Amino acid sequence: MVGEFVGRTSAPGKTILIGEHAVVYGKPAIAVPVTQLLAQVDVFRAPAGSGMRILSLDLGCTIDTEYSQREYSQQLSILSKTTHPSEMPSDPLPYVVYQTLQYLGLDHPPDVILQIHSDVPLGRGLGSSAAVATALVRATCLVSGHSLPPEEISHIVFQTEILQHGTPSGIDNTVIAYEQPIFYSKGRPLERLHLHRPLHLCIGDTGIPASTRATVAAVRQNWERDPAKSEGYFNEIGQIVTEARLALEIGQMSRLGQLLTANHHLLQQLQVSSPELDRLVVAALQAGALGAKLSGGGGGGIMLALVNPGIMEQVQRALKAAGASQTWSFEIS
Ligand code: MEV
Repeated sequence: MVGEFVGRTSAPGKTILIGEHAVVYGKPAIAVPVTQLLAQVDVFRAPAGSGMRILSLDLGCTIDTEYSQREYSQQLSILSKTTHPSEMPSDPLPYVVYQTLQYLGLDHPPDVILQIHSDVPLGRGLGSSAAVATALVRATCLVSGHSLPPEEISHIVFQTEILQHGTPSGIDNTVIAYEQPIFYSKGRPLERLHLHRPLHLCIGDTGIPASTRATVAAVRQNWERDPAKSEGYFNEIGQIVTEARLALEIGQMSRLGQLLTANHHLLQQLQVSSPELDRLVVAALQAGALGAKLSGGGGGGIMLALVNPGIMEQVQRALKAAGASQTWSFEIS
């Protein structure tokens, strides 16, 4: 039975503007939050002694899980015995709550129901897993009467990103926890970006779910097979990202557009694009976008186009005509 409403926490989706995949190998990348798409957690009190239940009712068609207190306790006991990452449970939702409780030094889950709603589509490179995990960390803090800074939230969420994505760079959890445009290099202090002008982005969804874990693993396989070739592409992407940062900071939108398209061509070389993504990129460019590229893991999922606001509708129509299952337009400032 659902009890008194305690509060709601949320976290945005994200999109990688430029630099995905190379960022896993230490190159810089730029990511922006997508605040129009939110993961939310509603917190309700539950009867004393009932523990914590996590309900994820609308996370799209592939996840529909509900944890009873008993199942949750089992997860916690598995986790407390876990010594090796391969023994971790495959479900990240109780894991992130457990990590947060541990981080806060709390032994027992509070008596609450955490009900997740997310409009960040799953498996599209829009950061759904990190957004849900971040909203859950914030909800766990809320019910425990604590608050954590973005750096620590990002650190906790990163543990679940490893569980889900294998060898993530950490960019998704960072941009989502900070909710600001970031220039990110693994292991370096975070740099928040100040945009000279707002960015108008159009996102086109191929409608094809994609696994970041799979594309990251495929890039790694190619890199192991021929390190010099892959590193050549990573270096070129790194240089493009550094130039894109300058273009953003001085408001050179047409140069930024060229750099985005150049990045797409390098991602094609890394074999993470797909015919559907390529078709949407070409359609956006033909409709007048300043630049376009796949965004996120690739292999399906989404692409983005940098657009002058006056032609946003034109670009969205062109993407739909080229097969996009849905489109979104965002202003990032
Ligand atoms: C996923 O949003 C971005 C990738 O570069 C993977 C990562 O950085 O962890 C593909």
